[in-house]
Amino acid sequence: MDSHHTPVLLNESLEYLVTDKSGIYFDGTLGFGGHSEEILKLLDPGASLVATDIDIDAFNFSKKKFNEEKRMNIYNFNFSQIGIISKIESISGFTGIFVDLGVSSFQLDNPSSGFTYREKAKLDLRMDKEKAINAADIVNSFSEKDIANILYEFGEEKNSRKIARKIVEKRAIRKIETTEDLKNIIAQITPERFLTKTLSRVFQALRIYVNDELGVLKTFLTDSVSLLKKGGRMVVLSYHSLEDRIVKEAFKYETLDCICPKEFPVCQCEKERRLKILTKKPVLPSENEVGLNYRARSAKLRAAERI
Ligand SMILES: C[S@@+](CC[C@H](N)C(=O)[O-])C[C@H]1O[C@@H](n2cnc3c(N)ncnc32)[C@H](O)[C@@H]1O
Repeated sequence: MDSHHTPVLLNESLEYLVTDKSGIYFDGTLGFGGHSEEILKLLDPGASLVATDIDIDAFNFSKKKFNEEKRMNIYNFNFSQIGIISKIESISGFTGIFVDLGVSSFQLDNPSSGFTYREKAKLDLRMDKEKAINAADIVNSFSEKDIANILYEFGEEKNSRKIARKIVEKRAIRKIETTEDLKNIIAQITPERFLTKTLSRVFQALRIYVNDELGVLKTFLTDSVSLLKKGGRMVVLSYHSLEDRIVKEAFKYETLDCICPKEFPVCQCEKERRLKILTKKPVLPSENEVGLNYRARSAKLRAAERI
């Protein structure tokens, strides 16, 4: 299996993340190991890297790729389980925590993983195939209103109601089973020139819902701050505005030392300031990187340090 995945904002990620060559690091989205491989090159023999990926193909690929690497332990867990992983590893604090959100180019390009609408595949979109609900369940059994809300909330799709209505109309005639079935339904009500972007938004919305990507990210961000050593760094790469907003707000919340209502004369909240933001504005890929790797075009890097 060839990964075809080029790591995004690689040098920038390493610069923010690696502050101690003998430290303990966490890569929550191991994928095909693009970032992990380069992190390891910067680390001393006594350092360690704990990495995880929820996708079984990515996990198996990387397990094999890093088979000889003594400094690394690899899991097939959700990154929101960073607390459990650190307990298993007896780690009380990480020097650096990294996530590169979303799906890999391999997942997007490979019809058998069911993430692509460019090829006919089973309409699934689960990263973890043990999860109960897949994308076909949503379009075949959710109410028109719920489908519209999912498309609007997680895909920022303006025609969400029109698309949901068509889905419900068509599923009454025949079950929607494949990516192509859904694509054909959307194509019937979308002008050709808007089709690709509409499909991207619809598939993104279903994928985010099926995998609870935003909920998982929020849990992860809160728990991982507690697991950073003082001076330790967190680096997050996101690929759409919904994720980036969550990262930005979570970081900002962690810089506050009081969340009491303004009218309180004295602070009563005991809120602790835990982070210093290192990237006032998100770091974006250079034109050169986007030219070489189209997937990098929407990437945003945010970094913060535990104080
Ligand atoms: C953009 S890719 C990472 C690519 C990797 N940095 C590289 O350069 O090879 C994102 C990976 O994160 C995984 N992933 C997404 N959400 C996850 C989650 N909640 N927990 C663990 N892995 C997740 C996906 O399966 C995918 O392999």
